[in-house]
Amino acid sequence: MLKKNDEIINIVCSLGSNGEGIIKHEDYTIFVPYALIGEKIKCKILKVDKNICYGKLIDILEPSKDRVKADCPVFTKCGGCQLQHLKYLSQLEYKKENVKRTFNKIANLNVEVNKVVCGEKQFRYRNKLQLPVIETEKGVEIGFYAEKSHRVIPIEDCLINPNWTSKIISTFKKFFEKFKVSAYNQITRKGLVREITVKEINNSLLIVLVCTKENVPFIENLIDLLKENLSLDFSFYINVNNSQSNVIYGERFIHIYGKTEYIDQMLGVKYLVGPQSFMQVNKEICEKLYSKVCELASLKENTTVIDAYSGAGLMTALLAQKSKKAIGIEIVKEAVDCANQLLANNALENKVKNYCGKCEDLLPQIVKEEKEKGAEIVVVLDPPRKGCDIKVIQSIIENQIDKVVYVSCMPSTLARDVGLLTGALEIKNNNIERAINFKERYKISAIIPFDMFPQTKHVETLVCLEKVK
Ligand SMILES: C[S@@+](CC[C@H](N)C(=O)[O-])C[C@H]1O[C@@H](n2cnc3c(N)ncnc32)[C@H](O)[C@@H]1O
Repeated sequence: MLKKNDEIINIVCSLGSNGEGIIKHEDYTIFVPYALIGEKIKCKILKVDKNICYGKLIDILEPSKDRVKADCPVFTKCGGCQLQHLKYLSQLEYKKENVKRTFNKIANLNVEVNKVVCGEKQFRYRNKLQLPVIETEKGVEIGFYAEKSHRVIPIEDCLINPNWTSKIISTFKKFFEKFKVSAYNQITRKGLVREITVKEINNSLLIVLVCTKENVPFIENLIDLLKENLSLDFSFYINVNNSQSNVIYGERFIHIYGKTEYIDQMLGVKYLVGPQSFMQVNKEICEKLYSKVCELASLKENTTVIDAYSGAGLMTALLAQKSKKAIGIEIVKEAVDCANQLLANNALENKVKNYCGKCEDLLPQIVKEEKEKGAEIVVVLDPPRKGCDIKVIQSIIENQIDKVVYVSCMPSTLARDVGLLTGALEIKNNNIERAINFKERYKISAIIPFDMFPQTKHVETLVCLEKVK
């Protein structure tokens, strides 16, 4: 019987959905982060839960030929990257296999998965940085949260964030030290600064300092320091957040310096970026993903496309360019406001209608109305990690929508929803089960993963489904 603190030596047989190595030892399955397939390792058992164990890698006795040296000094400590120790081509292979295996495990579907679409940059690809600031015995520290924790790991740079990251961190540290500005302490609820967020738009930076109060002392000195140290043009805001919650921004943004907003473009659609607007973190891959969504949706002049879970509406606007009409559905009002602004900036007001509300409430009604008008309907789904509400899936099936293009950042909920759409899964007594008589409702015409987040376990997947006639 295995117990906590036991040490075992064994060979890693596969990688799990979080990128961790898996060992089969006697009757146990042991998950060991940062171990790779084929490696002979020594691990220490940290937790035993029936026949599942969680272990810590202690020694690599025989390393994999796919192992590379991770350059980040806080890799394995900070929760950001899980795969920096794996050769990039093998990361892509792992992500493809992960999608395939998940479809098999969850939906009992044996699917063909395309090659993972990747970009030029394997590092420094993000254009959005978010840094918690904390008070420690050594003074104010800036860093990232450790995985599944509120502990901040201090950092000096981050290799998946842009080159300006180290300058931002060192400049703010200099400011906090020199002017004795305090950071917020979540336990005592004292202190001023909570977070630093930075977005890069067309070689300019939009910096927000999240503080518990509006009046930040020596703010002119901070602006001077940023001017001295940053080589890029920037704008600066203070956001006031005095809540006890984990939400990053409070309601009020105070503009201090530089432009109030910036204009960027994607695939010909212009969009404004302000301190609150949502921005995709990897623009290169996002362009490739959105182009593919439009291509697979094969929109025609008489198509009505419903973009469910539409966020800030960029994809809705792109879909509208190639169809008769596009309808966005999004729950967050600020995102819908952004989406409506985007229409005005791109002369698309007559082609797009954005609804604010839940897809499960609005989509069935919208589909019904559009069908009554005789429209040819394509549904694009891009839900959050938990996937689609069952009412959304049921409405698509009942209304026999010809084409569904599904974008997801979570292979497990994607597989579940695709299983329900195809008919491989069914709902019985409120449970999702494998269908006994599998009669194919939808055919999967493409599954394409996109490497939106290199060095991490995450994968964005696009699935195209067509109604079986
Ligand atoms: C993964 S994002 C997709 C955003 C957008 N399609 C894009 O490409 O930027 C999921 C979006 O769904 C929204 N959302 C979450 N639950 C929702 C619901 N029940 N109904 C409508 N929108 C929802 C979130 O606010 C978020 O904007």
